[in-house]
Amino acid sequence: MTVYLNGIFLPIAEAKISVLDRGFIFGDGVYEVIPVYSRHIFRLSEHLQRLQRSLDSIQLGNPSTEAEWTNIIHELVGRNEPEDQYLYLHITRGVAKRDHAFPCPAVSPTVFLMSYPLNTPSPMLLQNGISAITAPDNRWLRCDIKAISLLPNVLLRQMAIDAGCAETIMIRDNEFLTEGSSSNIFVVKNGVLLAPPKNNLMLPGITYDVVLELALANGIPHQIRKVLVSEVFDADELLLTSSTKEVLAIVQLDDKLIGTGKPGEMFTKLHNLYQKFKQEIMRA
Ligand code: PDD
Repeated sequence: MTVYLNGIFLPIAEAKISVLDRGFIFGDGVYEVIPVYSRHIFRLSEHLQRLQRSLDSIQLGNPSTEAEWTNIIHELVGRNEPEDQYLYLHITRGVAKRDHAFPCPAVSPTVFLMSYPLNTPSPMLLQNGISAITAPDNRWLRCDIKAISLLPNVLLRQMAIDAGCAETIMIRDNEFLTEGSSSNIFVVKNGVLLAPPKNNLMLPGITYDVVLELALANGIPHQIRKVLVSEVFDADELLLTSSTKEVLAIVQLDDKLIGTGKPGEMFTKLHNLYQKFKQEIMRA
C-alpha cells in the first residue's frame, strides 16, 4: 500500500511520525473518509468542504488548496491497486513539546493519507440487514467536528461488537436520537423518512446528504426533525448510512424486531436509488 505523508508518497511500512505528534499525544486533529468507485472520487468537494469546517472548528489552517488536495488524492488513488478504495485523510496540529495549548509559534501540521480496498456490504448483509443496540450518547457537544479523538465512538462501537451486533445507536439525554458510533441513522414511519437535524450533536454525513437529496428528487416523503427515542423503537424501518456502509437496514434494536424483522420497502427503494446514483455519477 502506498500512502502519503507530509508531501511524499511512500510504502506504508516506511511512513513514520514522531511520538511527539499532537495527534498521538492529544488526539489533536481531524480526518475524512472518502469512497472511491472505479477510481472516481465520490463527492470530493463536499468531503473537502467538511474537512475545511473541521479545520476551522479546531483553528488549524488548511495545509492545501482544493486543487492541491485533488492532485494528491488522484495521485494516491492511481498508485494503489483496487478500483474501489476508501481514502483516509488525517491532519494533526503537528509535532511539538507536550503542552495542551497550541504550539507557539505554530508548527507544520502532519498530513497523512492512506487507501484501503472498499468492500461495500455483502449481498447477504443487504438481504438480511443488521442488528444494533442503543446506548446513551455520552460524547462531547462538538460531534459535528470530524475529530480523530474517537475514544467515545470506539467504546460505543465495541459495546455493539460485544453484544454480537453491528452498530450502537446513540440516544442523547434519554430523549432523542443522534447517530450511530460511526454512521448516521434514519427512522421510517408510515412511509415517511425521518432524519435528525444536522447540528453540533452529530456528524453531518456525506451519505446522509445524498440520501436526503435522493428522497427529495424522487418524491419520497421526508422530514428533518428531532426524532424521539420512542419513535426509534416504534419505527417501521431503521436505516444506517455511511461512506463505507452506504445504506443498510437495521432489523433488530436491542431485543426488539424492527418492522417485520426484514429490510423494508424504504430500504430497498433508497438502496437502489443510491446504487443508481453511484453508477450514473461514478461510472459514466
Ligand atoms: N464514519 N457519524 C459518525 C460518528 C461517523 O463516524 C460517520 C462516518 C458518519 C457518516 O458520515 P459519512 O456518510 O460522511 O461517511 C456519521 C466514517 C466512515 C469512519 O469514521 O470510518
